[in-house]
Amino acid sequence: MHDFKMKNNRLFCEQVSLDAIARKVGSPVFVYSKKTILDHFNKLKKAFKDIDPLICYSMKANSNLSICKILKDAGAGIDIVSGGELYRAQAIKVQADKIVYASVGKTPEEIEAAIKAGILFFNVESVAELKLINAIARSLGEKQKVAIRVNPDVAAKTHKYITTAKKQNKFGIDVKTTKEIFFKLRKSLNNLEICCIHLHIGSQIEHVTPFIQALKKGVKLIELLNKNGANITHINIGGGLGIIYDKEKPQTASDYAKAIIPILADKNLKLILEPGRFIVGNAGVLLTKIIYVKDTSVKRFYIVDAAMNDLIRPSFYEAFHGVIPVIAKKKIKLKKADIVGPICESGDFLAKQRLLPASLSQDDILAVMSAGAYGFSMSSNYNSRRRAAEVLVDGKTFEIIRKRETYGELIKNEITGKL
Ligand code: LLP
Repeated sequence: MHDFKMKNNRLFCEQVSLDAIARKVGSPVFVYSKKTILDHFNKLKKAFKDIDPLICYSMKANSNLSICKILKDAGAGIDIVSGGELYRAQAIKVQADKIVYASVGKTPEEIEAAIKAGILFFNVESVAELKLINAIARSLGEKQKVAIRVNPDVAAKTHKYITTAKKQNKFGIDVKTTKEIFFKLRKSLNNLEICCIHLHIGSQIEHVTPFIQALKKGVKLIELLNKNGANITHINIGGGLGIIYDKEKPQTASDYAKAIIPILADKNLKLILEPGRFIVGNAGVLLTKIIYVKDTSVKRFYIVDAAMNDLIRPSFYEAFHGVIPVIAKKKIKLKKADIVGPICESGDFLAKQRLLPASLSQDDILAVMSAGAYGFSMSSNYNSRRRAAEVLVDGKTFEIIRKRETYGELIKNEITGKL
């Protein structure tokens, strides 16, 4: 599952001790395993090898350029959601015809930049957006390929904040409107080629059933549209594969492929996938140092130097992340404790009520596990905290792939004005 393992009482990432990284680079620091990233990508690739899909890594999960470049070099395309992500993809020279662009709120400037870049598809999320892309493509003298992101009204059975395909969600276009687009509106959209249906039903989905439900709806819709003159050549089933944080038993890449491939048999559709978390989630940890041990009348707190600004998932989704001391303690009397950051909010915690060695003390380093996806990419400067450093491990070696922010960088865009 990943390459973070205990060896001789020390937690290693591949062949590098995490304690050594924290001592050298400082903390908080995100550490990623190159081998694990590639292993997860290759698992998906292998599972789907019979139909050779385009796997567009969903950069929002972890947009560090080095991570994206590893995946690009392995043959991945990229799923982007903003002008900033397009800029990142261009910075590492991702082939433009391997870039797909989703988002409910693409601005005219973002649309123009993406058309000029020559991206493969916009995943279009409203009629208004469709019209705007058509108008901008016309003004640029281009014909742009687009996918309609269909909202299939399927419950993904995941956290409500990351369920995206119910009628109540802001994402995608319902089936009825999609038909109207093809049967009525399409004639007037001369600068668009609508050739893909996109479905993304949510994230951290553990069971294959909702994927199957959504895909079946999508395929049925494509068959109906193509029978009536449309020319849909691609289907994009988004991301959403769940991973193990705690006791989950998510479908494997192979379970997923085995469920998907038969539904697409003989349909003559090129498949696109947009995995994020599946590739990087378990390929990263957040290392943090205990600043103080604080025992109160009701509980123990380990106050650490990482906080909700570094990893917001526990605060935001009450998400579980395992916590492991990077050097195992000899006497293992355990004691329950909350692991909390220095931020001025009671919601600032990384873990609650965890059984950890009672002898943990100041300066000990803890690894917060499964922090590779939606960790650094959701981090902020709240409380004027500098964003953490990022490190990539490859075998016996490691390198810094993002320097820790400096105080200077924290304020460099601010102006002490005259007003
Ligand atoms: N495609 C689209 C259109 C998406 O919106 C997303 C994620 C993905 C692909 C990748 O999904 P994944 O394979 O990573 O599940 N911050 C949340 C997750 C938000 C997911 C947003 N969309 C978390 O930390 O759990």
